[in-house]
Amino acid sequence: DDALDADARAILTGNDKGGYTIPTEGLYPFQWNWDSAFAAWGFSTFDADRAWTELDTLFSAQWDTGMVPHIIFHKEDDGYFPGPDVWGTGTTPASSGISQPPVTAILARLIHERTGDTERLRALYPHMLAFHRWWRDWRCVNGVACVTHPWESGRDNCPDWDPGMANVDTSGVGDYQRRDTGHVDASMRPGKEDYDRYLAIVYYGREHGWDQAKILHEGPFLMADPAIQFILIRANRDLAAIAELLGEDPSEPRAMADEIEAALPEIWNEELQAYCARDMKTGEFAKAISSGAALGLLAGVENAAMEQKLGAMWDRVTYGIPSNDPAADSFDPRRYWRGPTWPVVNALIAVGLSSAGRTTEEARLRRETAELIRNGGFFEYFDPIDGTACGGDRFTWTAAIWLAWAS
Ligand code: DGY
Repeated sequence: DDALDADARAILTGNDKGGYTIPTEGLYPFQWNWDSAFAAWGFSTFDADRAWTELDTLFSAQWDTGMVPHIIFHKEDDGYFPGPDVWGTGTTPASSGISQPPVTAILARLIHERTGDTERLRALYPHMLAFHRWWRDWRCVNGVACVTHPWESGRDNCPDWDPGMANVDTSGVGDYQRRDTGHVDASMRPGKEDYDRYLAIVYYGREHGWDQAKILHEGPFLMADPAIQFILIRANRDLAAIAELLGEDPSEPRAMADEIEAALPEIWNEELQAYCARDMKTGEFAKAISSGAALGLLAGVENAAMEQKLGAMWDRVTYGIPSNDPAADSFDPRRYWRGPTWPVVNALIAVGLSSAGRTTEEARLRRETAELIRNGGFFEYFDPIDGTACGGDRFTWTAAIWLAWAS
């Protein structure tokens, strides 16, 4: 694996645009929030200073409200749509108006364990705390973690969002020119109806000056996200552990974790026997279990019925945890989040498996993920049945998790 290790490092340094890395050349030419957190984890295996810098740059774009935007447009690039003019947030640096899964505290703790750079961690601590407070105040409804846009979940066109997406009015969207399908085969990307709705939700935020109260209470889309629910529980526990290590008061992050954990019954889908995405406007659950449920162990949530479902879903494929259940009508093995397996999600699931002491499953997931990368390269995602490499090539977070976990 020496050659692959060297190539993974070359991908990270090649995608480094000076203090931040882009996910991949062409398709994603700016800094993305959770991509950067994983990039930092990858850098920590060979360049500790550069790892912390990645997180510093990410948090340097934090809004006064505590939100860390999902895209930071450091430099202009018209190869991506929708760009800063469409978002119209008016921030410096220019950024989008929504966030992304808050994995930074989880990865900052892992990076610190590897590098022991306590002063760099200390500098980040108040920013991560402000970010978690923002999630509590503007994205949690009685402890249920929600997203206001599918892009905020990071799992854009996952069937998890179908119930909420069905009710988004696209009548005012008009014409626009997509860029993503110029970089990647259209059959591996979200469809036109998805894009119309993505834009309708962005336009709503822009028209309301990114007023969070308005977006949360009256916006066109609000769905509970099981992945973010679990990530926030874990991230707050990790932040409490970081607080203790730094001699800070851990009670606030601990209370946030407890509140979100207490709300888990709200997203329990009795019919599916799983924690599940749920439309907060109508109460409707998503129709199938997704890889979001597989992050339960990350939050220390053990549930035999759900694990049995997840085990069956995993056994239906050859490589990794699929983003959608192959038994579902909506399953599409190469279309982005409607079926493919994502090395980066497998890595996050594996952090949960390790914490729970599930060494056999962790080893299986690592072996399957490594095989995809060895056979197919450092791609964005893969067909979980035949292993076909999909989406963007020389992808930062795939290279990063190879270095930090899969190799
Ligand atoms: C995209 O443009 O596909 C991104 O996933 C949005 O964050």
